[in-house]
Amino acid sequence: MNQDQQQQWLAKDRQYIWHPFTQMKDYATRDHILMERAEGTFLYDADGNRYYDTISSWWVNPHGHSHPRIRSAINEQLQAFDHVQFSGFTHVPAIRLAERLVQMAPDGLNKVFYSDNGSTAVEVALKMSFQYWQQSGLTSKTKFVFLENSYHGDTLGAVSVGGVDLYHALYKPLLFHALKLPAPQVAQQQLNDVTSLTAEQQQAVKTSLDVAEQLFAERHAEIAGIIIEPMIQAAGGMNIYPAAYLSGLRALCDRYNIHLIADEVAVGFARTGKMFACEHADISPDILCLSKALTGGVLPLSVTMCGDQIYDAFYDDYETYKTFFHGHGYTANAIACAAANASLDIFAEQHTVGHVATLAQELSTQLESLKELAHISNVRQLGLIAAFDLQTSNHARPRIGFETYLQGLKHGIILRPLGNVLYYWLPLCVTADDIRDIVRRTKIVLESVFNN
Ligand SMILES: Cc1ncc(COP(=O)(O)O)c(C=O)c1O
Repeated sequence: MNQDQQQQWLAKDRQYIWHPFTQMKDYATRDHILMERAEGTFLYDADGNRYYDTISSWWVNPHGHSHPRIRSAINEQLQAFDHVQFSGFTHVPAIRLAERLVQMAPDGLNKVFYSDNGSTAVEVALKMSFQYWQQSGLTSKTKFVFLENSYHGDTLGAVSVGGVDLYHALYKPLLFHALKLPAPQVAQQQLNDVTSLTAEQQQAVKTSLDVAEQLFAERHAEIAGIIIEPMIQAAGGMNIYPAAYLSGLRALCDRYNIHLIADEVAVGFARTGKMFACEHADISPDILCLSKALTGGVLPLSVTMCGDQIYDAFYDDYETYKTFFHGHGYTANAIACAAANASLDIFAEQHTVGHVATLAQELSTQLESLKELAHISNVRQLGLIAAFDLQTSNHARPRIGFETYLQGLKHGIILRPLGNVLYYWLPLCVTADDIRDIVRRTKIVLESVFNN
């Protein structure tokens, strides 16, 4: 595309579009990147510049862009049919996918409820849990517990259980009341292994679980469920916590008859080195939310999975009005389900989870060299997710993360910040060479930002 055409499109972008999570004024004198092509781990702009997609396009893409397998699955499904309502009708792509998810997911999650994005998967989970208790005779169980710093999406139910003030505080008057617990307090830079803890870390986990237990002991009669992001609080700053916290919560939920809702919308599908992050703690949640990487990062789709006990509480004669009255126009979109089936084929055939373990080692080695830089701290990693904090002491540069992002673009790498946290959420198809090059470029970017 020539320069004139690009400028015309970008002018129309400015005229017509309101981008998500974006202060549009930041782009008054700066353009969004006009994308033209995406392949594997790379994005290409209209000038042909190439960028490492180090955040898997907002955490959705596992196998790289434009994967031929997913592309042909979509084409094939389109030849058959596009989309049908999912009440009174069903189709093979959705049935196959549900069967495979049940087989893969932690034990006991036997039923799949479809929706179309991560936030709605969370809404479904909350409503499902709430209605379960209403229909099981424990009608006082109406409250949800969430962790400080957690993020579960942008719809109002999900915001009600969100703990990041920057995104959530303003909307408080619109939200239902939920109970907040402190996030697990474990110094992350020493958390080399999420399953093998020092005595100090064990004590920190115990202290966090004691606070949870106190709340559950006092208020379990009111509490329907607790929602958590297993192993990593992602949007809240990429905070990794020990598996023992998760297994401890599982035990407390069992003791106090509270649903454990695992929101794996972000961390599911091998990002953390296990297919599902709950596997680090060897636990099964009562309800599991999945989305993002489910379709190989190509089309919107999500699922909320639960066990028979929850499902059975809704299963009755129509006149009992126990139906789960929830659904969306695009529920179980057949093309998205076909893409998801192709994505699961790739996981199986390419042994992606094993590949992630090997690459995580390489990432860990490369991160050692980042730790030498003066202006960063708290380097942390789980699987192919890694993060570090940028030094914030210079008050004249409160948006050092954004500065780094802009500088990264000049060096062919997307370093999208969360405030002053920089992170990698690498596509699972990266190579060891890619990882070395990504870290090398990151160092160049950081040096140029901090030496300015
Ligand atoms: C843990 C978690 N849950 C839910 C969501 C919401 O997903 P979506 O953006 O698809 O609505 C996100 C989004 O980042 C997330 O990280």
